[in-house]
Amino acid sequence: MESYTVQPAKAIMGEISVPGDKSISHRSIMFGSLARGTTIVRGFLRGEDNMATLAAFRSMGVEIADDGETLTIAGRGLHGLREPEDVIDCGNSGTSMRLLTGLLAGQRFFSVLTGDKYLRKRPMKRVISPLREMGAVIHGRDGGEKAPLAIVGGRLAGISYLSPVASAQVKSAILLAGIYSDGETTVTEPHRSRDHSERMLAHFGAHIRVTDTGAVISGGCEMEGREILVPGDISSAAFFLVAALIVPGSELLIKGVGVNPTRTGIIDILTAMGGDIQLLNQRACSGEPVADLLVRSSSLKGIEISGDLVPRAIDEFPVVAIAAALAEGVTTVRDAGELRVKETDRIAATAANLRAAGVRVEETGDGMIITGRGTLDGCVVDSRGDHRIAMAMLVGGLAASSPTTVSDTGCIATSFPRFLPLLQEVAR
Ligand code: S3P
Repeated sequence: MESYTVQPAKAIMGEISVPGDKSISHRSIMFGSLARGTTIVRGFLRGEDNMATLAAFRSMGVEIADDGETLTIAGRGLHGLREPEDVIDCGNSGTSMRLLTGLLAGQRFFSVLTGDKYLRKRPMKRVISPLREMGAVIHGRDGGEKAPLAIVGGRLAGISYLSPVASAQVKSAILLAGIYSDGETTVTEPHRSRDHSERMLAHFGAHIRVTDTGAVISGGCEMEGREILVPGDISSAAFFLVAALIVPGSELLIKGVGVNPTRTGIIDILTAMGGDIQLLNQRACSGEPVADLLVRSSSLKGIEISGDLVPRAIDEFPVVAIAAALAEGVTTVRDAGELRVKETDRIAATAANLRAAGVRVEETGDGMIITGRGTLDGCVVDSRGDHRIAMAMLVGGLAASSPTTVSDTGCIATSFPRFLPLLQEVAR
């Protein structure tokens, strides 16, 4: 099993770009395959999760050429997918599995989805229940709660669904099924989750309307191929933002980062903690806002995080916890029970790892209370197979008093294959 030891750093300096946004990369393949004509994708993230989505669509007959820079997708139109000859393996990717479940429910063929040992433990009822209301026939372990999932595609009817969780995966699965449904499909969320599906579906010409609390899509509307430029992933940039904030004497420019307001909770959190982060050169690409982020080391203070802010920073809590551990005072995270059903239970994993680094952490059902201590002890911790837990602890190690070793770091390749070389490049 791979492991990595990070040395304490003197400063984080330089100018970098981070790889393409994972959520947008998944959607570019999915919507590009369903559109008519050619879709060109630049800046696609070649992480394992996105490669699982790419392989899934190739297995359904979509030609996707990859010259190493650009993907060229020969879209097959709404009804052009072919029954896959084998089980579709989503690997570690919840986005692949949940969005594909919605899409496959409305096809005229049978399909089976599986994933790795972590994904096979994650809850799937949250997508299967509303899809069944739409008429979908889906079987899975534990009454449909767990993968593998067997999907008998067929006719669907539009519904109006009030989701109990703020989840872009649930919302997107229902919108994808809505494309194949009679009438309109409405999804409403308790708090707004990332809206990349809504933006990209509109960009491809689907009949979608965004409301204050969700979205409405009309069934049966063909989409047209487009050009997509995928911005840098703010969830990957987050590790470098925190690294530069916590290591004294740092200054880092991260170029071309997606700053969609449904994703910038991390900037709001770090700024509220006292972090010096500037958004420069703000622009738009393929319907998504983008900026360069200039970050300088800062003295951080503890804050309270809850409510709407949580879904806007949902993937960033492992690294927010590192910032909190190095801040002055207490940081309280509430309303974040979703963290327990991510790639691993991120509340339990974060608490255990921070304790190993000498930090006082109290776990609650839906969050944690972290007492900042201004430094971390060097330690040996495990990623639990979760890419963001691994990267967060390696970032913490930059500001520790002695080396930090993280075991099981192979999982970093799911979202950020070049993370370790990039960290070495900027750490002085
Ligand atoms: C994602 C949605 C979020 C996020 C995940 C990517 C997406 O999951 O945690 O990394 O691309 O739609 P949930 O929908 O479960 O909150």
